[in-house]
Amino acid sequence: MELLEAIRTRRAIRKFKTDPVPPELIEKLLEAARWAPSSVNCQPWEFIVITDPETKKRISRAFMLGPFLNQAPLAIAVAVDRLKSTCQVQDGSIAAYAIWLAAHDLGLGACWVNPIIEFGVKRILGIPVTKRLVSVLAIGYPDEAPVHTRKKLADFVYFEKHGNKKGPIAFKE
Ligand SMILES: Cc1cc2nc3c(=O)[nH]c(=O)nc-3n(C[C@H](O)[C@H](O)[C@H](O)COP(=O)(O)O)c2cc1C
Repeated sequence: MELLEAIRTRRAIRKFKTDPVPPELIEKLLEAARWAPSSVNCQPWEFIVITDPETKKRISRAFMLGPFLNQAPLAIAVAVDRLKSTCQVQDGSIAAYAIWLAAHDLGLGACWVNPIIEFGVKRILGIPVTKRLVSVLAIGYPDEAPVHTRKKLADFVYFEKHGNKKGPIAFKE
C-alpha cells in the first residue's frame, strides 16, 4: 500500500475476526516500531506481545473500556523507560502509531487503548515503575470497516501567524 494512502485509510478497528495473527506478521509490526524515530535516537521503548486470553481479559477489565481489547487476538503494550527518554509520551506514541499503520498495511486492524489506570495494567503485565505505559494496541483481522471524517484543513491551518488564513494554498472551506 502506498504510504499516503495508508495514512488516509487507517481506521480505529474495534471488531476483530477470531483468526490469530501469525507470528511473522507480529514480527513485522514490531519491526515497524523498531524503526520509529525517537528523541536523540534513545529508543526507550519496550513492547509486550500479549496473546494469552486470560491476560487480555484482565487488562480489558483494568481499562474499564469495554470488551474489544479482550476480543482482539493480539495486544501489544508500548512502554517507555522513564530514565532513557525526556520525551516519553512522544517517543512511545510514534512507535505505537508505526505499529498501527503497519497493521493496516498488512491487512490487519488495530485500535489504541488508552491506559487510563496505568498502574493496574502495569501490575498485570509486570512492568516496573521505571517504565511508563503509553499505549496498548488491540490488533487483529478487521471485522468492521468504520468510516470517519476529519475537519477541513481550512479549519486549523494558518500561515506565518496563528489566525492568518492567507497563504500560498487556498484550502477549500
Ligand atoms: C492517544 C489516543 C488514545 C485513544 N484511546 C482510545 C481508547 O481508549 N479507546 C478507544 O476505543 N479508542 C481510542 N482511540 C482511538 C480514537 O478514538 C480514534 O483514533 C479516533 O476516533 C479517530 O478514528 P480513526 O482512527 O478511525 O480515524 C485513541 C486514539 C488515540 C490517538
